[in-house]
Amino acid sequence: MSHTIVLIPGDGIGPEVTEATKRVLAAAGAEIQWLERVAGQAALDRGESDLLPASTVQAILDHGVALKGPCTTPIGGGFSSINVALRKKLNLYGAVRPIRSIDGVKTRYDDVDLIVVRENTEGLYSGIENIITEGVITSLKVATEDACRRIAIFGFEYCRSRGRRKVTVFHKANIMKLSDGLFIRCAREEWERAYSDLQYEERIIDAACMAIVQDPSQFDVILCENLYGDVISDLCAGLVGGLGVTPGANFGEQHAVFEAVHGTAPDIAGQNLANPLALLMTGVMMLRHLAETRDDPKCTDVADRIRDAYNHCLTHGEKTRDLGGSLGTREFADAIIKQLR
Ligand code: NAI
Repeated sequence: MSHTIVLIPGDGIGPEVTEATKRVLAAAGAEIQWLERVAGQAALDRGESDLLPASTVQAILDHGVALKGPCTTPIGGGFSSINVALRKKLNLYGAVRPIRSIDGVKTRYDDVDLIVVRENTEGLYSGIENIITEGVITSLKVATEDACRRIAIFGFEYCRSRGRRKVTVFHKANIMKLSDGLFIRCAREEWERAYSDLQYEERIIDAACMAIVQDPSQFDVILCENLYGDVISDLCAGLVGGLGVTPGANFGEQHAVFEAVHGTAPDIAGQNLANPLALLMTGVMMLRHLAETRDDPKCTDVADRIRDAYNHCLTHGEKTRDLGGSLGTREFADAIIKQLR
């Protein structure tokens, strides 16, 4: 079965890591037709007037699934975030970031296994900011009951469908009594309504951050509104080796855009230094999604073989520089391809 997948290479290290990922997927036998589309700075460079061209959105609407590299939103020029725009336009309300210890990547903990579920469409990322008077700005945090309930259901369903045991909501309802108050009320009500077979807890986010770095094994699925989820994802990435090893996906009812947690990494872009593993792991998540939603067991087999190949490389010291190794982006992809069985 062949799948048409929209590929957005993105900016900065995006083209390097997407190229490496494409090569590994092809070598592993993934039957994918890539439909390349632009977004971000790359779109402006191609002469588009919009960071998110209509043809890119339409391609995802038509084909349902995209693999996306990181994109730059130029500062100034009145552009609003390309990533926020894409998630809103396609209603990709649920972000999932699995955070797992990886064989061969030594960190303070050996056994981290968490999933961050982030609400993707509102909160402070609604981008509603006002100049009240010179020197006084307000930024509006939006919480709607529909979106709070929808992400709570998504988080509980994800927890249950993956055989996990506990959902912890991170919040600051002691200060933001109405907005975060609504978020936890919806989560609690949904838990009581339909998910009480799962464990459920609520934690104030500042103390919860301390608890994560002290003992991540206390947590399983972490459910957050938009900004908290963004910050917590990077914090958790630091527990398992950094942004080079943290995959992610954005889900809506109809569409899914798979993208790693990291950004465009301008400090290392174009130098063959980026770790392509985060996007490759994201590609593995995408294959598992295709296996599930399109009933294609071959995708599971390809995903397993890629995972085994990169685990083998990492445990044998074949790594990129961010993980203490010496391989470049291309050479690491070559090493993985060599290990595919
Ligand atoms: P960043 O994730 O690009 O970089 C943070 C640090 O991690 C840098 O030192 C970078 O070199 C390193 N790093 C990131 N990914 C890496 C990889 N795969 N291999 C090795 N090292 C890696 O975050 P930053 O600097 O805050 O953002 C840079 C740009 O990326 C900004 O324009 C931001 O808006 C954009 N961005 C885009 C995202 C997306 O399109 N989904 C997500 C996050 C940021």
